[in-house]
Amino acid sequence: MKLAISGSPGTGKTTFAKALGKELNLEVINEKDFALKNGIGSFNDQNELEIPIELFEEKVNDYLEKNDDIIIEGHTLCETKLNVDKFIIITLDPEKLQLRLELRDYAPEKIMDNLFCEGIEYCKKHASRNYKKNLIKIESADPNKMLGEILPKLV
Ligand SMILES: Nc1ncnc2c1ncn2[C@@H]1O[C@H](COP(=O)(O)OP(=O)(O)OP(=O)(O)O)[C@@H](O)[C@H]1O
Ligand SMILES: [Mg+2]
Repeated sequence: MKLAISGSPGTGKTTFAKALGKELNLEVINEKDFALKNGIGSFNDQNELEIPIELFEEKVNDYLEKNDDIIIEGHTLCETKLNVDKFIIITLDPEKLQLRLELRDYAPEKIMDNLFCEGIEYCKKHASRNYKKNLIKIESADPNKMLGEILPKLV
């Protein structure tokens, strides 16, 4: 099984990917770790890794072709077309997302950027365009509740 998880920053991709990976015994790969390991992307003046989409997509698809039982997760994935069985997009009410990001001590401008991203449904819209048939949309919640909702949809 090959899965991808995306959504705005802070929606709980990494948390849920780990829970799903444990449940299904899948390797969990973070997009940023993958990019760094493969020498893709460069850091901007705010020390954020900027990932060139086409090259990244090509490298991830190469990896997916050669390996099985994988979950890859990250917010950039919604802009890619990956050869996965299911593409999961996590959404979260912007007010709840704001609370989560504040708890993480994000800079106010970064919080505004991420709330804007969720408010305009940036990831959801891109994912809907790139993953028509195999898209699963899910609201962020307790990982066990999310597992209960997702697992029947993966068979
Ligand atoms: N279901 C949940 N309920 C409440 N808090 C959660 C939930 N899932 C994750 N969190 C918390 O929200 C924060 C963001 O979670 P996580 O790191 O999994 O998000 P992410 O989407 O991977 O973020 P990023 O895009 O920055 O990598 C963390 O502090 C995490 O503990
Ligand atoms: Mg994460």
